[in-house]
Amino acid sequence: MRIAMIGSGYVGLVSGACFAQFGHDVACVDKDPAKIAQLNSNTMPIYEPGLDKLVADNVKAGRLSFGTGLTDAVARADAVFIAVGTPTRRGDGHADLTYVYAAAAEIAEALAGYTVVVTKSTVPVGTGREVARIIREARPGAEFDVASNPEFLREGAAIEDFMKPDRVVIGVESDRAREVMSGIYRPLNLIQTPMVFTNIETAEVTKYAGNAFLATKITFINEIADLCEKVGADVHDVARGIGLDGRIGRKFLHPGPGFGGSCFPKDTLALAYTAREANAPQTIVEQVIEVNNSRKKRMARKVIDFCGGSVDGLTVGVLGLTFKPNTDDMRDAPSLDIVPALQKAGARIVAFDPEGMSEARQLLPFVTFTRNAYEAAAGADVLVVITEWHEFRGLDPRRIKEAMRQPRIVDLRNIFNPEEMRGLGFAYEGVGRPGPRS
Ligand SMILES: NC(=O)c1ccc[n+]([C@@H]2O[C@H](COP(=O)([O-])OP(=O)(O)OC[C@H]3O[C@@H](n4cnc5c(N)ncnc54)[C@H](O)[C@@H]3O)[C@@H](O)[C@H]2O)c1
Repeated sequence: MRIAMIGSGYVGLVSGACFAQFGHDVACVDKDPAKIAQLNSNTMPIYEPGLDKLVADNVKAGRLSFGTGLTDAVARADAVFIAVGTPTRRGDGHADLTYVYAAAAEIAEALAGYTVVVTKSTVPVGTGREVARIIREARPGAEFDVASNPEFLREGAAIEDFMKPDRVVIGVESDRAREVMSGIYRPLNLIQTPMVFTNIETAEVTKYAGNAFLATKITFINEIADLCEKVGADVHDVARGIGLDGRIGRKFLHPGPGFGGSCFPKDTLALAYTAREANAPQTIVEQVIEVNNSRKKRMARKVIDFCGGSVDGLTVGVLGLTFKPNTDDMRDAPSLDIVPALQKAGARIVAFDPEGMSEARQLLPFVTFTRNAYEAAAGADVLVVITEWHEFRGLDPRRIKEAMRQPRIVDLRNIFNPEEMRGLGFAYEGVGRPGPRS
């Protein structure tokens, strides 16, 4: 199959490279010439484990190419995927569909022969129909169908998720489009991946419902963590105790500073907006948004309280800035709330993140960035863990203690063992865990 991928960001690049690995002929297009120049010199614009090799292998095999113009790529394609951004629209929280509709108009001009135009971007219900309308209006004679194929990959595990998904959801409404989409995903038949064929609206709602459910699960355990802190219970044992119930499941029951990232915050907002418009308000999701926002803001207060009510003049070492490990993505990361609030309270911030620092430099002024975690701890009055990078779990607590001015840790991801840290002489506070035994 010949595929054009419009937008070569996180989703477009990973999907394009993985489709090429399936054996398809993929042309990835992006408006950003700097990104395309980087890709053409085999430099990845994002950090994602395994992506550089996957891209290099498929470029070498002649199945994957990059360019800034979509005309040829679309004209040759059996399917054109729209994978452009759908950020939050300023003011009202709805998804900004400017990029999707602009891409649709450009695609319309270039269509040649029967083509399936697929939205892979996360788009509110009704967008697929609007894409079809835009194309039909621009090119009344064009032979095409629209389809919706939302993407469920997770940053940091994106290739594995794409190559071995739990399921593939495809909204299509003609046999011809269904055949093309089945052909594209045929390699997944070998591993018996469930294919969920639906109408277009259903596929669009499914993506938002999935993300909203996961965001709710995180927010639920975060509130249970608050309760645990007040009553001397341990949220990890609670999570295990409930997660082993097959109806609940163990995943997404890790308490932390609140969800961030490129998807959950904007997708919950967009779902709430769409639902209000449709007169079917999602009150649970609205509450999740509010609880999560206030939680992110409250985390700085937690650090300040732990330091006896003030961080004025103190040095705060920060471990981890990205919204989760194994990515350099800083979009809506909790660190973007926590660090400025601590600075406002008078703290000096010294921070380390394995992959996120060049992005973080643009977003967090007046922070001193270090070369490793120990340097971030050096001279600190308190160390705050914001992102649970695997390498932080292996740090030597004794070395950290020696480096710090005062051995105090606020572990917002519970990566350390409280008893061990307290045994070594740290003042330690996690999330949802009992305090020191008296
Ligand atoms: N990042 C994730 O983990 C993830 C997971 C699932 C779904 N999604 C969804 O996928 C979509 C894309 O997200 P992303 O994180 O890849 O965004 P991104 O910002 O990383 O990439 C979008 C890219 O599209 C390009 N672009 C915009 N308009 C274009 C046009 N007309 N022609 C060519 N290129 C154009 C931009 O230059 C940019 O490189 C969003 O709707 C997002 O919600 C993201």
